[in-house]
Amino acid sequence: MGTQQVRSYRTIQNNESKLIASSLLKEPTRFEKRFERYAASVVSIIAYGRRVPSYLDPIITEVIAIMQFAAELNVPGKTFPMLMETFPILAKFPNWMAPWKMGLGRRRSGKDFFFALAEEANEESPNDNFARQIFDLKEKYDLDDREISAISGNLFGAGSDTSSSTLVTMVLAAVMFPDAVTKAQKEIDEVVGSDRSPDFDDLLNLPYVEAFVKEVFRWRSVAIIGGQPHAPIQDDYYNGWFIPKNTWVQGNLWYPYPVSVLTLGPYIVTLEIFPTQIDSTLIDISKRIGCHIRTRKVITPLVGDDEVCLLWMMLRLVCSGQALAEQGTHITVARLLWGFNFLKKKDAQGKEIDIDIFDYTNGLNWRPRPFECIIEPRSEKIAATIGREGEKALEELLPYNGTTKYFLSIQD
Ligand code: HEM
Repeated sequence: MGTQQVRSYRTIQNNESKLIASSLLKEPTRFEKRFERYAASVVSIIAYGRRVPSYLDPIITEVIAIMQFAAELNVPGKTFPMLMETFPILAKFPNWMAPWKMGLGRRRSGKDFFFALAEEANEESPNDNFARQIFDLKEKYDLDDREISAISGNLFGAGSDTSSSTLVTMVLAAVMFPDAVTKAQKEIDEVVGSDRSPDFDDLLNLPYVEAFVKEVFRWRSVAIIGGQPHAPIQDDYYNGWFIPKNTWVQGNLWYPYPVSVLTLGPYIVTLEIFPTQIDSTLIDISKRIGCHIRTRKVITPLVGDDEVCLLWMMLRLVCSGQALAEQGTHITVARLLWGFNFLKKKDAQGKEIDIDIFDYTNGLNWRPRPFECIIEPRSEKIAATIGREGEKALEELLPYNGTTKYFLSIQD
């Protein structure tokens, strides 16, 4: 997943993103589903050598649904599963008495399911895949089934909901900030025209589009509480606060004030880090958490910049899929801006229906709650190009077609 390695996934991402565009011609209202399919398909090709052709594929209806459910619940102290962290006694209840435990019902365990997918990819896929690489390393690193299952399945957990939710935010931003869209489209038209959509090579010549993408990442950073909680391995002090060893430290990226540290209870510390300005406190904290900040440039960098930013990491653990997610989001946003207008719907009186830009889900990862808008191709010529490119993309992705015999649910 390093910056060099992910370049080899560009063709896959480009083609899958062309399919987002062509599917939006046919079914513009289901944009969320199209983004989910795209994100799941990219990680599935990488992990298992097999694409996900439809948003009705069980890998989406079953797995992504569970990931979203988990992200909804996985917030400190919010609901029962996470209360188990606060009150470990709750975790000891037998399943039949504990509706808050996940994975109940007629389902395979995640471990068995993802291991089966990995084993199948290793033994049967005609394409190179990450699962096979892990099997090749099994003896060297003495990996057991649980580890093989987790390392490969992780790509789904970490890479599908995050990437698709970011694109849903992009649509919301495009609807709500038409002036920015117009500027981006003007730039793209000058560089690309209507006979083809933007390619990776174009992106360097589209600085406004790049800024648009960065702003989408910043405006509503998807991993809004900085991913999973972390804990110091020894007692520490920060700004006069005593943070005992093993304290649950949780980020809070979306906070329009300079850095501060907030305690929500004896064992939870929240670092609020979305600065409006760079000051000595920010520089101090960036050093402490191992994150580099260049003067006056704190928003998320795209691949190529030499800084790391908080969208992708809290403390020292950084998103392993950053480079992949950045390049996929970049090309997809450029293509969608090139191809479509994003408009508010109108009511019977012809008045625009407003959308609440704060109406977001309430979880570890967040995305806008369902909203209605109009997504229409910018011209007939562009629509024809999108259709043509979609067909070609589908052809190029043919080698990744395939099915799996495994479902997460138990089939009768
Ligand atoms: C917009 C998209 C994405 C965002 C904002 C994002 C953000 C994050 C964040 C905040 C973390 C947690 C870091 C921490 O706990 O301190 C994380 C971890 C992780 N991400 Fe991403 N991510 C994205 C997409 C992806 C993709 C596409 C993949 C892979 C296909 C991926 C793979 C991972 C993995 C494997 C981890 C766990 C790293 C570890 O345990 O060492 N992510 N990501």
